Amino acid sequence: MKALVLAGGRGTRLRPLTHTVPKQLVPVANKPVLFYGLEAIRDVGITDVGVVVGDHGPAIRDALGNGGAFGLNITYLHQHAPLGLAHCVMLAQDFLGGADFLMYLGDNVIIDGLGPLLDAFWHTRPDAMVMTGKVGNPSEYGVAEVGSGNIVTGLEEKPANPRSDLALVGAYVFTPVIHQAVRSIKPSWRNEREITHAIDWLLRNGWRVESHLHGGYWKDTGRVEDLLECNRAALDVAEPSIRGQVDDTCEIRGPVVIEEGAQVSGSRITGPAAIGFSAVVRDSRIGPYTSIGAECDIVGATIENSVVCDGSTVRGSLRDSLIGRQAKVSGDFGRPACLVLGDHSEASLHQGAS
Ligand code: TTP
Repeated sequence: MKALVLAGGRGTRLRPLTHTVPKQLVPVANKPVLFYGLEAIRDVGITDVGVVVGDHGPAIRDALGNGGAFGLNITYLHQHAPLGLAHCVMLAQDFLGGADFLMYLGDNVIIDGLGPLLDAFWHTRPDAMVMTGKVGNPSEYGVAEVGSGNIVTGLEEKPANPRSDLALVGAYVFTPVIHQAVRSIKPSWRNEREITHAIDWLLRNGWRVESHLHGGYWKDTGRVEDLLECNRAALDVAEPSIRGQVDDTCEIRGPVVIEEGAQVSGSRITGPAAIGFSAVVRDSRIGPYTSIGAECDIVGATIENSVVCDGSTVRGSLRDSLIGRQAKVSGDFGRPACLVLGDHSEASLHQGAS
């Protein structure tokens, strides 16, 4: 079996960050989102991985190389424009050949899910298998209707009146018949070849599509609030370890990761929290649920429920924020500011006249 990982796309919902960084490389718990997927793929024993990349291809190639660091053999497939998930299958046809394959959306984090998905696939070997997860707000997702024997009977995209609470999660297993399906459908109103349309084509043409219900954690990190939620979930399970320097004036509460070379002084770190490699944190309150990237410079700051990417400087008070790389935040807003800041941006906070 091969894997096809989709790491192109527009990432409009994570702008301005995605002007300069692909959303798949935004970190949660100080590790790029895409790494969680690649490690999960390696852990189920797949080694041949095609990675679809778009405009941000060079950054993805820099981060993953030939895949050797993950124990994978990566082939890059360039998509000239984000023409849809099913279009990714079309352009990967030569790479995939006649193999069954796992398709994985590179902006998704799925904990402990791929092993059970593949076991279920091999057990009944349907023509395609979709991973589903129960959600309370199905109208915001692609939704599968599932009958007895886990057979998928219908799919709906963001339905106003959903007929089930089973959302499509970003992992699918396909057999080679999907190649016929993706060629048979037309682009949608948004000019994308939709994978849901291709799966619907399979259903209408008598092919057997099954659902595998994932009971564990998963998240599509395409929006800021979801990325912050995923950061919280990843920090919750991170192994606490303190390898950097923490002086006597600090208070460390709860599970905290402090990477090598980090220097923490005069601060309170409330876990779950992570302080990256060679970051400086002085006279600050960090956490809970906060990741500070490598080589950040955090002085006199209060930061809660936030992700601060590598090399950024913060002097001030933040919460529920996503701060890009090499960004600068300063000033006093009178209360914690909630910011989404792109790479190399600056925000100077001032209290308005009242
Ligand atoms: P989406 O999140 O559905 O699409 P997007 O990246 O364009 O995001 P937004 O809606 O915020 O603009 O994509 C799911 C995954 O598939 C993600 O990792 C990007 C990838 N993808 C491709 O590789 N090629 C594509 O043509 C599309 C649409 C997505």
